Amino acid sequence: MRERASDQPRSSHAVSTDQSVPGWRDILDALATRRSCRDFDGSRIDRDILAEIVQDGTEAPSSCNQQQWHFIIVDDRDLLRRAHDISGGNHHFAECSALVYLCFQKGWTHGNFSVVQSVAGACYHMMLSAHLRGFSCIWNAGIGDKDALAEMLAVPAVFEIQGALAIGRARPTAPDMKAPRRPFEQVHSWNGFSRPDPSVYPVKDAPTYPYFDIRNDHNPFAIWDPTRWTWPQVGDFRGYSVWAKSPLAGVYVSRRQGAATEAELSLLPDLSDGARVVELMPWGGTYSVELRRRLRAGVELRLAELSEANLSFILERFRQEGLSLDQVQTDLIAGPRLAYEDSSVDAMVLPQVLEQMPDPKAVLDEVQRVLKPGGCLVVSVRNLDSAYGALWRTEESKAQVPNQGPFTPLSATRVRSWLASRFEIDRETGIGREASGDAATVSGPESLTCRLFAARCLK
Ligand SMILES: Cc1cc2nc3c(=O)[nH]c(=O)nc-3n(C[C@H](O)[C@H](O)[C@H](O)COP(=O)(O)O)c2cc1C
Repeated sequence: MRERASDQPRSSHAVSTDQSVPGWRDILDALATRRSCRDFDGSRIDRDILAEIVQDGTEAPSSCNQQQWHFIIVDDRDLLRRAHDISGGNHHFAECSALVYLCFQKGWTHGNFSVVQSVAGACYHMMLSAHLRGFSCIWNAGIGDKDALAEMLAVPAVFEIQGALAIGRARPTAPDMKAPRRPFEQVHSWNGFSRPDPSVYPVKDAPTYPYFDIRNDHNPFAIWDPTRWTWPQVGDFRGYSVWAKSPLAGVYVSRRQGAATEAELSLLPDLSDGARVVELMPWGGTYSVELRRRLRAGVELRLAELSEANLSFILERFRQEGLSLDQVQTDLIAGPRLAYEDSSVDAMVLPQVLEQMPDPKAVLDEVQRVLKPGGCLVVSVRNLDSAYGALWRTEESKAQVPNQGPFTPLSATRVRSWLASRFEIDRETGIGREASGDAATVSGPESLTCRLFAARCLK
């Protein structure tokens, strides 16, 4: 049986009645091995089986027993491909055996979202049914344009399409890992609220936080300034949210960054076998993958992150990308302090992470300490003094803090002075004249006005 996400032992206290279901502990253990799959083999599942799975879901409780749910099972390949296109690129929509669209009629039992809670209960019940039968699933709130879906599926306007459950057979090579669970102590308390500080994130002070004033794309209470977060809060936030996706090859490659990464990496010197390179705060490993491909096989790459959850994600991602782990090491950090000896590192890479840190200058001091004399820092930051900075200020920063954690673009001029006071700046470049997308490289004073400011510094 596959492992579950938490290695905390689950006790099996004797039940106090003789009504327990035979084998209940084994059943619960089996259910705990369910994990999301985003890599299906494209095979068909018989309609009889699919119908049974969906029917199992209808055993779930519903508010006022209204059962105002409706499930549209899509197993037609053309429709699945169209569902994929509408979703904006959920490739698993095109490769699963079926999508079950989760709908409900608007108007009944809306208090406390009870109709939403009811559909959610049914969906999870279907997932467990599919899991026990040996199939895999992924629940998706991200389904794309609901009007386009309503038209495709002829859903009347009074029905809401809430999400979709993809069911299928996992490809043999699909990541065999479940997203880590928070320690149980963190997520429960008795007879009142209590929760450890690092797992409660900073928000702007307000007397109340009205639910409908807070949206993903508009959160007036979000704090994007990482200097107002503690290091443990940043680590906690980044560590769990990276698992919003599976560690598949190519995951999290942002359109905005693609070409820019190439320009940033060109600042890296040619390092000989035996050299040691450290990448700081690699989050989901998008940059690390490109970095590893660029380094010689005998160069050691160390990935230093704030959470084990990120590091395990990245290692599985490397496997999925077909990269060797022979010369890859992971280091857990708790803050600015780096666990390396003085003058022991040949190159440090900080790609767009200074602006994610509660204390960036303390980190630069540490980089200075651990680099060998003549060692190299390759660093880039999102530039506040740019068209992108203006866009961030007026639009992006109005939304919820992204999965990578809070960040605030830094003034390139300011960062340049931080670097100049600690290192010799060997090369500097601006990347991207426009607010997003382009990766034009610019030198001279204009580099301080581009979307990204990147530099190669020597100790
Ligand atoms: C309500 C809900 C919506 C979700 N929406 C998406 C989604 O749009 N895209 C996606 O890739 N995963 C989605 N997921 C899957 C979660 O990312 C996943 O359940 C979580 O990372 C935990 O992993 P596990 O299911 O393997 O335990 C969703 C899960 C839930 C419960």
